[in-house]
Amino acid sequence: MQDAVARPGYDVPVGVLEGRVVGLSGLTVSLSGLCDFTGVGDRVSIFGLDGRETIAEIVAFRADLAIAMPYGSLEGIGSGCKATFQLFDQEQRRKRAGGTLVVNASWTGRVLDPMGRPIDGRGPLLPGGTPQRLHASPPDAALRARLGPRIDLGVRALNLFATCRQGQRLGLFAGSGVGKSTLMGMLARNTACDVAVIALVGERGREVREFVEDDLGPEGLAKSVVVVATSDTSPLMRREAAYTAMAAAEYFRDQGKSVLLLMDSVTRFCQALREIGLSSGEPPATRGYPPSVFAELPRLLERAGPGLAGADGKAGQITAMFSVLVEGDDHNEPVTDAVRGILDGHVVMERRIAESGRYPAINVLRSLSRTVPGCNSAAENALVQEARADLSTWDEMQDMVRLGAYRQGTDPKVDKAIRVAPAIEDVLRQGRGEKATLEESFAALRTALSKSGSA
Ligand SMILES: Nc1ncnc2c1ncn2[C@@H]1O[C@H](COP(=O)(O)OP(=O)(O)O)[C@@H](O)[C@H]1O
Ligand SMILES: [Mg+2]
Repeated sequence: MQDAVARPGYDVPVGVLEGRVVGLSGLTVSLSGLCDFTGVGDRVSIFGLDGRETIAEIVAFRADLAIAMPYGSLEGIGSGCKATFQLFDQEQRRKRAGGTLVVNASWTGRVLDPMGRPIDGRGPLLPGGTPQRLHASPPDAALRARLGPRIDLGVRALNLFATCRQGQRLGLFAGSGVGKSTLMGMLARNTACDVAVIALVGERGREVREFVEDDLGPEGLAKSVVVVATSDTSPLMRREAAYTAMAAAEYFRDQGKSVLLLMDSVTRFCQALREIGLSSGEPPATRGYPPSVFAELPRLLERAGPGLAGADGKAGQITAMFSVLVEGDDHNEPVTDAVRGILDGHVVMERRIAESGRYPAINVLRSLSRTVPGCNSAAENALVQEARADLSTWDEMQDMVRLGAYRQGTDPKVDKAIRVAPAIEDVLRQGRGEKATLEESFAALRTALSKSGSA
């Protein structure tokens, strides 16, 4: 298998253990002869009847059998097929646990699968130096640098109403078709960062192509590494897309870079974990999700953020946006709940706003960044607060106003909101090809509020 993952290349195994396929059921394969030296998360090779190698991961043990789930399809695998496991010494084993990825700085501009193989037809990917662990732990909290300076996201609604610092992690809550991919493309192109790493988990093949070609475009792709596992791939592949993207982001962060990580979506990542958990025998708990999902999710999300502080106190940063699919208006959905609790802010996109034709369809009143107001100047905070108050008044009153039940002059606060709200809406509206810096965003809001004040 010509890939950048789980390939020895750097260190030679001390031996190869051989086992046999003794059973197949659902998504898993039972292997004999490997139990004594393997653990959950280890990768084994299974050789099909035609000799083709399939990588599988051990997900459970039952009696003296190792239960493995293949990354590819089970096709061609039958009872008696050979399975091998490469033995390493303990130090190597620790370094390689859960698989590694050898990222290279030249990977920007490329689209790869979760195994680190190129899928854009543009030739091989150069392997990098040190292998990155796919299932790395987050940096030690005590040694981790603090959040960096304010980051310019290039999108007015976010720059103003969810102002972020480098290393911050946000959730993007949206239903399908409300403009999530378009916004992510805008962020990849507009954000003032060194590299963008984008994970597309469980999207359809057609959507991936549209995203790369239309939303990202050549300009966005040039500074991005895109990791893709489409919806037709195995749950392990979909899970791994998130880890591969995270490992790539960590590689750039450890070089001191400011990285933007966009993950679409953590919901599909959790669904992949659910499929893996259930087929390895875990019981379903919260709405069909086994408990391991909610242990694994924070471990992934925590890895984004600041890196270890260098001698000069500086560090690379992973600023991350994790999308969460919100179907209907289901706030009790367990993934939504879990993500909301872990991250440092959330952005809510609403169908109602998209239907009214205002894009990006962000409900700024329901969106928030936990680092605000600390990262803005006092004048900027005052401006945003004023705009929020006006929008909120308008939100409460607009039905009455439209029905003609409100008489102008009754309440100066409402009068002002009526005047100002359309101008703020115009500030929030932004075409997909348009870019607005932090400074331009605040200037636009200032103009919107002052103009309408004199109207
Ligand atoms: N900034 C924007 N300006 C104009 N239209 C937009 C914008 N963002 C989204 N749209 C419209 O919404 C549609 C769906 O957007 P998309 O990003 O594909 O949504 P999602 O990824 O949430 O399914 C697009 O085809 C486009 O017509
Ligand atoms: Mg989309």
